[in-house]
Amino acid sequence: MWSDTDQRQSPAAPALTEFPASHAKASSMTGFLKIEQLGMAYQSDKPVFSDVSFTIDKGEFVCIIGHSGCGKTTILNVLAGLDSATTGHAFMDGREIAGPSLERGVVFQSHALMPWLTVRQNIAFAVKSKWPEWKAPQVHVHVEKHVAMVGLLHAIDKKPSQLSGGMKQRVGIARAFAIQPKMLLLDEPFGALDALTRGTIQDELMGIVRQTQQTVFMITHDVDEAILLSDRILLMSNGNESDGRYVPGGLAEVVVNTLPRERTRAQLHHLPGYYDMRNHIVDFLVSRAKAH
Ligand SMILES: Nc1ncnc2c1ncn2[C@@H]1O[C@H](COP(=O)(O)OP(=O)(O)OP(=O)(O)O)[C@@H](O)[C@H]1O
Ligand SMILES: [Mg+2]
Repeated sequence: MWSDTDQRQSPAAPALTEFPASHAKASSMTGFLKIEQLGMAYQSDKPVFSDVSFTIDKGEFVCIIGHSGCGKTTILNVLAGLDSATTGHAFMDGREIAGPSLERGVVFQSHALMPWLTVRQNIAFAVKSKWPEWKAPQVHVHVEKHVAMVGLLHAIDKKPSQLSGGMKQRVGIARAFAIQPKMLLLDEPFGALDALTRGTIQDELMGIVRQTQQTVFMITHDVDEAILLSDRILLMSNGNESDGRYVPGGLAEVVVNTLPRERTRAQLHHLPGYYDMRNHIVDFLVSRAKAH
């Protein structure tokens, strides 16, 4: 079986951890990225989720899947250093995440481009922030390489308002890759793309990630996308009322992807174990993720 935690009966029971819990500020756990007992409560009596713990190793690609509102973006924002959790800690490379950093590239659920800058200028801005010592020609070459990667060279001098939603999302992806971060945080990066472009960019992403040993944390609603790209898939449950008692959401299960890493989109459906894994995740989403 591909799960490395026991399958839980209640979708909202506290998350099973992959390592002993600790409140210590300096983490001694293994793993490049560590999340320890994270909880977020906008309303104190109804935390969105609680006790979320997991680690991500260097070079690992981890996806998180769960229904709308379970707290996926909130977790990603904490990892990005853009939000603070109510409880728990997040560490990268042994240091607690305390704010945004150019070591982490983020692709937001809704693209976050500067509307007064062109595609070229948006990406160049990030590149110059990361490498202030670079001269203009070096920035230029680097920017064009990443714009070409997402197939937008023809629109490089356009402003975001002149682009479609999918094109804006691709600019966000190019910008995140261009700063060569230690960690990529992707919030439904392909949500606004048509199926063809989505496939092309998934292949591109997989190629670069394998080549550069990039560490990735990605939110997706697409089960096939998660199976294609990730080494492990975190299944997250929503908070729910059960017998008049509110139970926060959390990490319900971690699915380890045992398909060969060299898989491609075209042969995914023919790989032994693919349908079992897919059905397992879909069953979770249908019957366990949001039990009311
Ligand atoms: N600033 C905020 N103030 C109050 N509630 C918030 C705030 N931000 C998020 N929430 C609530 O927290 C919950 C989790 O939000 P989050 O955006 O993390 O969900 P998500 O899992 O990413 O959902 P989706 O799949 O729709 O993007 C939601 O119920 C949302 O309404
Ligand atoms: Mg979200």
